[in-house]
Amino acid sequence: MKIAVAGLGYVGLANAVILAQHHDVVAVDIDAHRVAMVNERRSPLADVELEDYLQHRELRLRATTDAHDAFQGADYVLIATPTNYDEKLNFFDTSSVDSVLAQIEQIDSRAIAVIKSTIPVGYTRGARERFSGLRIMFSPEFLREGRALYDNLHPSRIIIGGTGPEAEKLAALFAQGSVDPDTPIVLTGSTEAEAIKLFANTYLAMRVSYFNELDTYAVTHDLDTKRIIEGVGLDPRIGSHYNNPSFGYGGYCLPKDTKQLLANYDKVPQTLIRAIVDSNTTRKDFIAADILSREPRTVGIYRLTMKTGADNFRSSSIQGIMKRIKAKGIPVIVYEPTYSGTEFFHSEVVRDLDDFTTRSDVIVANRWHDDLADVREKVYTRDLFGSD
Ligand SMILES: NC(=O)c1ccc[n+]([C@@H]2O[C@H](COP(=O)([O-])OP(=O)(O)OC[C@H]3O[C@@H](n4cnc5c(N)ncnc54)[C@H](O)[C@@H]3O)[C@@H](O)[C@H]2O)c1
Repeated sequence: MKIAVAGLGYVGLANAVILAQHHDVVAVDIDAHRVAMVNERRSPLADVELEDYLQHRELRLRATTDAHDAFQGADYVLIATPTNYDEKLNFFDTSSVDSVLAQIEQIDSRAIAVIKSTIPVGYTRGARERFSGLRIMFSPEFLREGRALYDNLHPSRIIIGGTGPEAEKLAALFAQGSVDPDTPIVLTGSTEAEAIKLFANTYLAMRVSYFNELDTYAVTHDLDTKRIIEGVGLDPRIGSHYNNPSFGYGGYCLPKDTKQLLANYDKVPQTLIRAIVDSNTTRKDFIAADILSREPRTVGIYRLTMKTGADNFRSSSIQGIMKRIKAKGIPVIVYEPTYSGTEFFHSEVVRDLDDFTTRSDVIVANRWHDDLADVREKVYTRDLFGSD
Protein backbone atom coordinates (compact mmCIF):
# COMPACT_ATOMS: atom_id res chain seq x y z
CA MET A 1 0.00 0.00 0.00
CA LYS A 2 1.20 3.54 -0.73
CA ILE A 3 0.56 6.15 1.96
CA ALA A 4 1.35 9.84 1.59
CA VAL A 5 1.82 12.22 4.50
CA ALA A 6 1.58 16.00 4.11
CA GLY A 7 3.61 17.90 6.71
CA LEU A 8 6.79 16.68 8.39
CA GLY A 9 6.27 18.19 11.82
CA TYR A 10 5.70 16.28 15.07
CA VAL A 11 2.45 14.75 13.89
CA GLY A 12 3.38 14.04 10.28
CA LEU A 13 6.81 12.59 10.96
CA ALA A 14 5.68 10.36 13.85
CA ASN A 15 2.82 8.96 11.77
CA ALA A 16 5.02 8.56 8.70
CA VAL A 17 7.48 6.49 10.72
CA ILE A 18 4.93 4.14 12.30
CA LEU A 19 3.26 3.54 8.94
CA ALA A 20 6.59 3.08 7.09
CA GLN A 21 7.30 -0.01 9.18
CA HIS A 22 4.76 -1.88 7.02
CA HIS A 23 3.93 0.30 3.99
CA ASP A 24 5.53 2.54 1.36
CA VAL A 25 5.31 6.05 2.77
CA VAL A 26 6.09 9.22 0.84
CA ALA A 27 6.04 12.36 2.97
CA VAL A 28 5.77 15.82 1.45
CA ASP A 29 6.69 19.13 3.04
CA ILE A 30 7.17 22.66 1.74
CA ASP A 31 10.29 22.90 3.92
CA ALA A 32 13.17 21.53 1.80
CA HIS A 33 15.47 21.37 4.81
CA ARG A 34 13.15 19.04 6.72
CA VAL A 35 12.75 16.89 3.60
CA ALA A 36 16.52 16.61 3.16
CA MET A 37 17.03 15.67 6.81
CA VAL A 38 14.42 12.92 6.69
CA ASN A 39 15.98 11.54 3.49
CA GLU A 40 19.32 11.50 5.32
CA ARG A 41 17.57 9.59 8.11
CA ARG A 42 18.02 12.43 10.59
CA SER A 43 15.17 13.75 12.70
CA PRO A 44 14.45 17.46 12.28
CA LEU A 45 12.83 17.33 15.75
CA ALA A 46 14.36 16.47 19.11
CA ASP A 47 12.76 13.12 19.90
CA VAL A 48 14.75 10.13 21.09
CA GLU A 49 12.53 7.47 19.53
CA LEU A 50 12.23 9.30 16.21
CA GLU A 51 16.02 9.60 16.02
CA ASP A 52 16.41 5.93 16.86
CA TYR A 53 13.82 4.66 14.38
CA LEU A 54 15.08 6.88 11.55
CA GLN A 55 18.65 5.72 12.06
CA HIS A 56 18.31 2.09 13.01
CA ARG A 57 14.99 0.66 11.83
CA GLU A 58 14.04 -0.60 8.45
CA LEU A 59 11.54 1.95 7.17
CA ARG A 60 9.98 2.26 3.73
CA LEU A 61 10.04 6.05 3.97
CA ARG A 62 11.12 8.82 1.66
CA ALA A 63 10.42 12.54 1.66
CA THR A 64 9.85 15.04 -1.14
CA THR A 65 8.79 18.62 -1.76
CA ASP A 66 6.67 17.51 -4.73
CA ALA A 67 3.04 16.84 -3.81
CA HIS A 68 2.46 15.16 -7.17
CA ASP A 69 5.18 12.63 -6.44
CA ALA A 70 3.67 11.94 -3.01
CA PHE A 71 -0.04 11.84 -3.78
CA GLN A 72 -0.13 10.10 -7.17
CA GLY A 73 -1.33 6.53 -6.66
CA ALA A 74 -1.62 6.88 -2.87
CA ASP A 75 -4.27 4.86 -1.04
CA TYR A 76 -4.28 7.32 1.84
CA VAL A 77 -3.04 10.89 2.30
CA LEU A 78 -2.54 11.89 5.94
CA ILE A 79 -2.75 15.65 6.46
CA ALA A 80 -0.59 16.98 9.31
CA THR A 81 -0.13 20.64 8.42
CA PRO A 82 -0.47 23.57 10.87
CA THR A 83 -3.79 24.99 12.03
CA ASN A 84 -2.84 28.14 13.93
CA TYR A 85 -5.43 30.20 15.76
CA ASP A 86 -6.16 33.40 13.85
CA GLU A 87 -6.73 36.15 16.44
CA LYS A 88 -8.52 38.32 13.86
CA LEU A 89 -10.90 35.62 12.63
CA ASN A 90 -11.29 34.16 16.15
CA PHE A 91 -11.01 30.76 14.54
CA PHE A 92 -8.37 28.31 13.36
CA ASP A 93 -6.69 29.14 10.09
CA THR A 94 -7.36 25.90 8.22
CA SER A 95 -5.97 27.12 4.89
CA SER A 96 -3.08 24.63 4.85
CA VAL A 97 -5.50 21.70 5.28
CA ASP A 98 -7.76 23.19 2.59
CA SER A 99 -4.85 23.52 0.21
CA VAL A 100 -3.75 19.89 0.69
CA LEU A 101 -7.33 18.69 0.12
CA ALA A 102 -7.40 20.73 -3.10
CA GLN A 103 -4.11 19.13 -4.17
CA ILE A 104 -5.43 15.63 -3.49
CA GLU A 105 -8.56 16.40 -5.50
CA GLN A 106 -6.45 17.62 -8.37
CA ILE A 107 -3.66 15.00 -8.30
CA ASP A 108 -5.41 11.76 -7.37
CA SER A 109 -8.89 11.83 -5.91
CA ARG A 110 -8.95 8.06 -5.37
CA ALA A 111 -6.88 8.53 -2.20
CA ILE A 112 -8.69 8.67 1.13
CA ALA A 113 -7.81 11.94 2.87
CA VAL A 114 -7.17 11.49 6.60
CA ILE A 115 -6.94 14.74 8.53
CA LYS A 116 -4.62 14.44 11.56
CA SER A 117 -4.32 18.21 12.07
CA THR A 118 -6.52 19.60 14.84
CA ILE A 119 -9.50 21.32 13.23
CA PRO A 120 -12.59 23.22 14.37
CA VAL A 121 -15.63 21.14 15.32
CA GLY A 122 -17.63 20.71 12.12
CA TYR A 123 -14.72 21.24 9.70
CA THR A 124 -14.78 17.76 8.14
CA ARG A 125 -18.51 17.91 7.44
CA GLY A 126 -18.01 21.21 5.59
CA ALA A 127 -14.93 19.90 3.75
CA ARG A 128 -16.89 16.86 2.50
CA GLU A 129 -19.35 19.30 0.90
CA ARG A 130 -16.65 21.55 -0.56
CA PHE A 131 -14.55 18.62 -1.85
CA SER A 132 -17.44 16.40 -2.84
CA GLY A 133 -15.25 14.15 -4.99
CA LEU A 134 -13.08 13.14 -2.03
CA ARG A 135 -13.45 10.63 0.77
CA ILE A 136 -12.36 12.50 3.93
CA MET A 137 -11.91 11.14 7.45
CA PHE A 138 -10.64 12.81 10.60
CA SER A 139 -8.45 11.06 13.14
CA PRO A 140 -7.34 13.24 16.05
CA GLU A 141 -3.74 13.11 17.21
CA PHE A 142 -2.86 13.01 20.93
CA LEU A 143 0.94 12.93 20.91
CA ARG A 144 3.14 15.06 23.17
CA GLU A 145 6.05 16.97 21.68
CA GLY A 146 9.34 15.29 22.53
CA ARG A 147 7.50 11.94 22.83
CA ALA A 148 5.90 12.10 19.37
CA LEU A 149 6.90 8.65 18.18
CA TYR A 150 6.60 7.02 21.61
CA ASP A 151 3.00 8.23 21.85
CA ASN A 152 2.23 6.76 18.44
CA LEU A 153 3.87 3.46 19.34
CA HIS A 154 1.86 3.42 22.58
CA PRO A 155 -1.30 5.38 21.74
CA SER A 156 -3.77 6.13 24.57
CA ARG A 157 -6.55 5.55 22.04
CA ILE A 158 -7.18 5.45 18.30
CA ILE A 159 -10.12 7.63 17.33
CA ILE A 160 -11.55 7.59 13.83
CA GLY A 161 -14.13 10.09 12.66
CA GLY A 162 -15.98 7.64 10.46
CA THR A 163 -17.82 4.35 10.76
CA GLY A 164 -18.09 1.28 8.58
CA PRO A 165 -15.41 -0.83 6.88
CA GLU A 166 -13.29 2.14 5.70
CA ALA A 167 -13.01 3.47 9.25
CA GLU A 168 -12.22 0.00 10.59
CA LYS A 169 -9.46 -0.38 8.00
CA LEU A 170 -7.94 2.96 8.97
CA ALA A 171 -8.03 2.10 12.68
CA ALA A 172 -6.32 -1.22 11.90
CA LEU A 173 -3.61 0.66 9.98
CA PHE A 174 -2.72 2.83 13.00
CA ALA A 175 -2.96 -0.18 15.33
CA GLN A 176 -0.59 -2.14 13.09
CA GLY A 177 2.06 0.56 13.48
CA SER A 178 1.78 0.63 17.27
CA VAL A 179 3.32 -1.92 19.63
CA ASP A 180 0.50 -2.24 22.17
CA PRO A 181 -1.99 -4.94 21.21
CA ASP A 182 -5.00 -3.64 23.16
CA THR A 183 -5.23 0.05 22.30
CA PRO A 184 -8.85 1.22 22.70
CA ILE A 185 -10.41 2.07 19.33
CA VAL A 186 -13.34 4.45 18.98
CA LEU A 187 -15.18 4.79 15.67
CA THR A 188 -17.54 7.74 15.67
CA GLY A 189 -18.86 10.62 13.57
CA SER A 190 -16.27 13.08 12.27
CA THR A 191 -17.83 15.93 14.27
CA GLU A 192 -17.71 13.88 17.48
CA ALA A 193 -14.07 13.01 16.75
CA GLU A 194 -13.26 16.71 16.30
CA ALA A 195 -15.03 17.45 19.59
CA ILE A 196 -13.07 14.69 21.37
CA LYS A 197 -9.80 16.37 20.45
CA LEU A 198 -10.78 19.89 21.54
CA PHE A 199 -12.55 18.75 24.73
CA ALA A 200 -9.56 16.59 25.71
CA ASN A 201 -7.10 19.45 25.34
CA THR A 202 -9.43 21.89 27.06
CA TYR A 203 -9.71 19.47 30.00
CA LEU A 204 -5.92 19.35 30.25
CA ALA A 205 -5.78 23.16 30.15
CA MET A 206 -8.45 23.27 32.86
CA ARG A 207 -6.41 20.95 35.09
CA VAL A 208 -3.28 23.05 34.63
CA SER A 209 -5.28 26.22 35.35
CA TYR A 210 -6.86 24.67 38.43
CA PHE A 211 -3.58 23.84 40.11
CA ASN A 212 -2.15 27.18 39.01
CA GLU A 213 -5.00 29.08 40.62
CA LEU A 214 -4.64 26.92 43.72
CA ASP A 215 -0.99 28.02 43.76
CA THR A 216 -1.94 31.68 43.24
CA TYR A 217 -4.19 31.43 46.30
CA ALA A 218 -1.55 29.71 48.41
CA VAL A 219 1.19 32.18 47.46
CA THR A 220 -1.09 35.13 48.21
CA HIS A 221 -1.87 33.73 51.68
CA ASP A 222 1.63 32.44 52.34
CA LEU A 223 0.52 28.80 52.42
CA ASP A 224 2.44 25.67 51.37
CA THR A 225 1.14 24.89 47.87
CA LYS A 226 2.90 21.55 47.67
CA ARG A 227 1.27 20.24 50.82
CA ILE A 228 -2.16 21.37 49.65
CA ILE A 229 -1.78 19.73 46.23
CA GLU A 230 -0.51 16.50 47.78
CA GLY A 231 -3.48 16.39 50.13
CA VAL A 232 -5.95 17.21 47.37
CA GLY A 233 -4.48 14.60 45.00
CA LEU A 234 -4.78 11.74 47.49
CA ASP A 235 -8.43 11.50 46.54
CA PRO A 236 -8.24 8.82 43.85
CA ARG A 237 -10.86 10.68 41.82
CA ILE A 238 -8.37 13.56 41.55
CA GLY A 239 -5.02 11.76 41.54
CA SER A 240 -1.44 12.95 41.95
CA HIS A 241 -0.59 13.43 38.29
CA TYR A 242 -0.45 16.46 35.98
CA ASN A 243 -0.64 18.79 38.96
CA ASN A 244 2.63 20.73 38.91
CA PRO A 245 2.13 24.50 39.02
CA SER A 246 3.58 26.52 36.17
CA PHE A 247 3.43 29.99 34.64
CA GLY A 248 0.39 28.93 32.60
CA TYR A 249 -0.49 26.30 30.04
CA GLY A 250 1.41 26.76 26.82
CA GLY A 251 3.03 25.05 23.88
CA TYR A 252 1.58 24.84 20.39
CA CYS A 253 -1.72 23.15 21.19
CA LEU A 254 -3.43 24.02 24.49
CA PRO A 255 -3.65 27.83 24.04
CA LYS A 256 -5.02 27.58 20.51
CA ASP A 257 -7.26 24.56 21.02
CA THR A 258 -9.03 26.07 24.05
CA LYS A 259 -9.69 29.25 22.07
CA GLN A 260 -11.05 27.24 19.16
CA LEU A 261 -13.41 25.28 21.43
CA LEU A 262 -14.64 28.57 22.91
CA ALA A 263 -15.26 29.82 19.36
CA ASN A 264 -17.24 26.65 18.65
CA TYR A 265 -19.45 27.46 21.67
CA ASP A 266 -20.89 30.43 19.77
CA LYS A 267 -24.58 30.66 20.81
CA VAL A 268 -24.17 27.70 23.23
CA PRO A 269 -24.35 28.59 26.95
CA GLN A 270 -21.07 28.22 28.85
CA THR A 271 -19.02 29.87 31.56
CA LEU A 272 -16.30 27.29 32.21
CA ILE A 273 -14.78 27.21 28.72
CA ARG A 274 -14.36 31.00 28.73
CA ALA A 275 -12.89 30.79 32.24
CA ILE A 276 -10.30 28.21 31.11
CA VAL A 277 -9.16 30.58 28.35
CA ASP A 278 -9.12 33.65 30.63
CA SER A 279 -7.47 31.88 33.54
CA ASN A 280 -4.20 31.64 31.63
CA THR A 281 -3.99 35.43 31.32
CA THR A 282 -4.88 35.91 34.99
CA ARG A 283 -2.13 33.49 36.00
CA LYS A 284 0.52 35.23 33.90
CA ASP A 285 -0.51 38.62 35.29
CA PHE A 286 -0.12 37.24 38.82
CA ILE A 287 3.27 35.63 38.15
CA ALA A 288 4.65 38.78 36.51
CA ALA A 289 3.41 40.95 39.42
CA ASP A 290 4.91 38.52 41.93
CA ILE A 291 8.29 38.72 40.16
CA LEU A 292 8.13 42.52 39.95
CA SER A 293 7.35 42.75 43.68
CA ARG A 294 10.96 41.62 44.22
CA GLU A 295 12.01 44.90 42.57
CA PRO A 296 14.64 43.42 40.23
CA ARG A 297 16.84 45.70 38.14
CA THR A 298 17.42 42.96 35.56
CA VAL A 299 15.32 39.84 35.09
CA GLY A 300 16.88 36.71 33.56
CA ILE A 301 14.66 34.34 31.61
CA TYR A 302 16.07 30.83 31.99
CA ARG A 303 14.92 28.88 28.91
CA LEU A 304 12.16 29.94 26.55
CA THR A 305 10.89 26.38 26.23
CA MET A 306 7.71 25.07 27.83
CA LYS A 307 8.88 21.70 29.11
CA THR A 308 12.15 20.15 30.15
CA GLY A 309 13.80 18.70 27.04
CA ALA A 310 11.63 20.60 24.55
CA ASP A 311 13.25 21.78 21.32
CA ASN A 312 10.91 24.65 20.46
CA PHE A 313 9.21 27.44 22.34
CA ARG A 314 6.00 27.96 20.39
CA SER A 315 3.54 29.84 22.66
CA SER A 316 5.50 28.99 25.80
CA SER A 317 4.03 30.68 28.87
CA ILE A 318 7.35 32.21 29.94
CA GLN A 319 7.18 34.46 26.87
CA GLY A 320 3.99 35.97 28.30
CA ILE A 321 5.81 36.64 31.59
CA MET A 322 8.73 38.19 29.70
CA LYS A 323 6.38 40.49 27.78
CA ARG A 324 4.68 41.71 30.97
CA ILE A 325 7.97 42.42 32.75
CA LYS A 326 9.33 44.34 29.77
CA ALA A 327 6.10 46.35 29.55
CA LYS A 328 6.96 47.68 33.03
CA GLY A 329 10.32 48.90 31.71
CA ILE A 330 12.46 46.27 33.47
CA PRO A 331 15.38 45.00 31.33
CA VAL A 332 15.22 41.30 30.50
CA ILE A 333 18.03 39.00 29.39
CA VAL A 334 17.52 35.47 28.06
CA TYR A 335 19.40 32.19 28.39
CA GLU A 336 18.29 29.72 25.71
CA PRO A 337 20.97 27.36 24.37
CA THR A 338 18.78 26.11 21.48
CA TYR A 339 18.36 29.64 20.10
CA SER A 340 21.14 30.91 17.87
CA GLY A 341 20.17 34.60 17.62
CA THR A 342 21.76 37.36 19.70
CA GLU A 343 18.42 38.98 20.55
CA PHE A 344 14.94 37.62 21.25
CA PHE A 345 12.19 40.23 20.83
CA HIS A 346 14.81 42.95 21.47
CA SER A 347 16.13 41.25 24.61
CA GLU A 348 19.74 40.19 24.73
CA VAL A 349 20.40 36.46 24.53
CA VAL A 350 23.32 35.57 26.81
CA ARG A 351 25.26 32.47 25.80
CA ASP A 352 27.33 32.00 28.93
CA LEU A 353 25.35 30.66 31.89
CA ASP A 354 27.62 32.21 34.55
CA ASP A 355 27.43 35.59 32.87
CA PHE A 356 23.63 35.21 32.67
CA THR A 357 23.17 34.28 36.34
CA THR A 358 25.57 37.00 37.54
CA ARG A 359 23.76 39.71 35.61
CA SER A 360 20.23 38.62 36.65
CA ASP A 361 18.75 39.82 39.94
CA VAL A 362 15.88 37.38 39.57
CA ILE A 363 16.14 34.26 37.39
CA VAL A 364 12.74 33.20 36.10
CA ALA A 365 12.42 29.50 35.28
CA ASN A 366 9.15 27.79 34.38
CA ARG A 367 10.88 24.49 35.10
CA TRP A 368 13.72 23.95 37.58
CA HIS A 369 17.07 22.70 36.30
CA ASP A 370 20.13 21.68 38.28
CA ASP A 371 22.05 24.25 36.22
CA LEU A 372 20.59 26.72 38.69
CA ALA A 373 21.60 24.95 41.91
CA ASP A 374 24.39 27.45 42.72
CA VAL A 375 22.10 30.45 42.37
CA ARG A 376 19.01 28.91 43.99
CA GLU A 377 18.26 32.02 46.04
CA LYS A 378 17.87 34.11 42.87
CA VAL A 379 15.51 31.69 41.12
CA TYR A 380 11.81 32.36 40.74
CA THR A 381 9.91 29.21 39.75
CA ARG A 382 6.61 27.56 40.64
CA ASP A 383 7.94 24.11 39.68
CA LEU A 384 7.22 22.27 42.93
CA PHE A 385 7.26 18.65 41.79
CA GLY A 386 10.03 18.58 39.16
CA SER A 387 7.67 17.26 36.49
CA ASP A 388 6.05 18.73 33.37
N1 LIG B 1 2.58 19.35 18.10
C1 LIG B 1 1.73 18.63 18.82
O1 LIG B 1 2.01 18.26 19.98
C2 LIG B 1 0.38 18.24 18.23
C3 LIG B 1 -0.38 17.25 18.89
C4 LIG B 1 -1.62 16.92 18.37
C5 LIG B 1 -2.11 17.58 17.25
N2 LIG B 1 -1.37 18.55 16.65
C6 LIG B 1 -1.92 19.22 15.47
O2 LIG B 1 -1.30 18.68 14.30
C7 LIG B 1 -1.08 19.71 13.31
C8 LIG B 1 0.38 19.78 12.98
O3 LIG B 1 1.10 20.07 14.14
P1 LIG B 1 2.70 19.88 14.22
O4 LIG B 1 3.09 20.24 15.61
O5 LIG B 1 3.07 18.58 13.64
O6 LIG B 1 3.12 21.06 13.23
P2 LIG B 1 4.59 21.50 12.78
O7 LIG B 1 4.53 22.98 12.68
O8 LIG B 1 5.62 20.85 13.66
O9 LIG B 1 4.74 20.87 11.33
C9 LIG B 1 3.89 21.21 10.28
C10 LIG B 1 4.66 20.94 8.99
O10 LIG B 1 3.76 21.16 7.89
C11 LIG B 1 4.49 21.78 6.84
N3 LIG B 1 3.53 22.39 5.93
C12 LIG B 1 2.85 23.55 6.06
N4 LIG B 1 2.02 23.72 5.01
C13 LIG B 1 2.18 22.64 4.19
C14 LIG B 1 1.61 22.24 2.96
N5 LIG B 1 0.68 22.99 2.36
N6 LIG B 1 2.03 21.08 2.41
C15 LIG B 1 2.97 20.31 3.03
N7 LIG B 1 3.55 20.64 4.20
C16 LIG B 1 3.15 21.80 4.77
C17 LIG B 1 5.42 22.73 7.56
O11 LIG B 1 6.52 23.08 6.74
C18 LIG B 1 5.85 21.88 8.78
O12 LIG B 1 7.01 21.12 8.53
C19 LIG B 1 -1.68 20.97 13.92
O13 LIG B 1 -3.02 21.07 13.52
C20 LIG B 1 -1.64 20.70 15.42
O14 LIG B 1 -2.62 21.42 16.13
C21 LIG B 1 -0.10 18.87 17.11
